[in-house]
Amino acid sequence: MPSSDRKLVVITGASSGFGMASAKKFVEQGWLVLATARRESRLEELQKELGAENCYIKRLDVTNDESISDLVGFISGMQVEIDLLLNNAGLALGLSPAHQADLNDWQTMIETNVIGLAKMTRAILPMMVEQQRGHIINIGSIAGTYPYPGANVYGATKAFVEQFSLNLRADLAGTGVRVTNIEPGLAQTEFSEVRFHGDKEKAASIYEQVEPLVAEDIAESVYWCASQPKHVNINRLELMPTCQSFSPLAITS
Ligand SMILES: NC(=O)c1ccc[n+]([C@@H]2O[C@H](COP(=O)([O-])OP(=O)(O)OC[C@H]3O[C@@H](n4cnc5c(N)ncnc54)[C@H](OP(=O)(O)O)[C@@H]3O)[C@@H](O)[C@H]2O)c1
Repeated sequence: MPSSDRKLVVITGASSGFGMASAKKFVEQGWLVLATARRESRLEELQKELGAENCYIKRLDVTNDESISDLVGFISGMQVEIDLLLNNAGLALGLSPAHQADLNDWQTMIETNVIGLAKMTRAILPMMVEQQRGHIINIGSIAGTYPYPGANVYGATKAFVEQFSLNLRADLAGTGVRVTNIEPGLAQTEFSEVRFHGDKEKAASIYEQVEPLVAEDIAESVYWCASQPKHVNINRLELMPTCQSFSPLAITS
């Protein structure tokens, strides 16, 4: 069991992208990491790289109630306090306009990005409130604030994350528990490969000729938010690659 003088971060979606880079960043900074995701083989590789004394792993599907309960049981067994929950697991599926979108894609995004994130939060929060300290960092997106064609339900799920984060702040006033929503723009991870249902070529084309954010940029932001003194709460942090910006509103005839 881990010694209680090290801080513990529970990361969802640690098998890839932002979650994996964050696991590495936190271990580098001396934290203990509990890395979770559905792909156990990826978690095992991560544990091998980071050392079993620094990185605990547990399979987790945030859309499955039993899997969340198992995780809570596992954490209780560790007999440590949780300093940080990084609610990072999430996905975009498809880029079709709303009238052509696949309903199954919509459902999976809502179940993962909205219901899964809310249930994970609800499962972990009582422990943090009891300890009178803790931090929930949610990974939202610029898509939760700014619309773009094809973002339809994905953007709406991230708007949920943005408002849920602010509402959590309201509920948690006086508890010592902090809440942050990090809202990244274009970043190169497995995100586009998942969005295009495994089409690697199409996914790669998104990042051609541009310099997107990389997972390590987000991990830095997560760590920065987490390492502020305890009287400082970063409510929202929005970041984009320099190559990404805004367009005028569309006007059609
Ligand atoms: N990349 C971007 O441009 C971008 C921009 C803004 C926001 N975001 C958000 O950032 C977060 C991380 O994305 P990423 O870019 O790092 O993409 P990624 O490389 O595809 O990683 C997504 C992670 O989520 C996990 N995941 C997906 N469904 C899950 C489920 N049902 N239960 C548990 N874990 C699940 C995946 O693990 P398993 O498949 O092993 O379960 C994976 O580890 C997401 O919330 C995404 O919406 C990404």
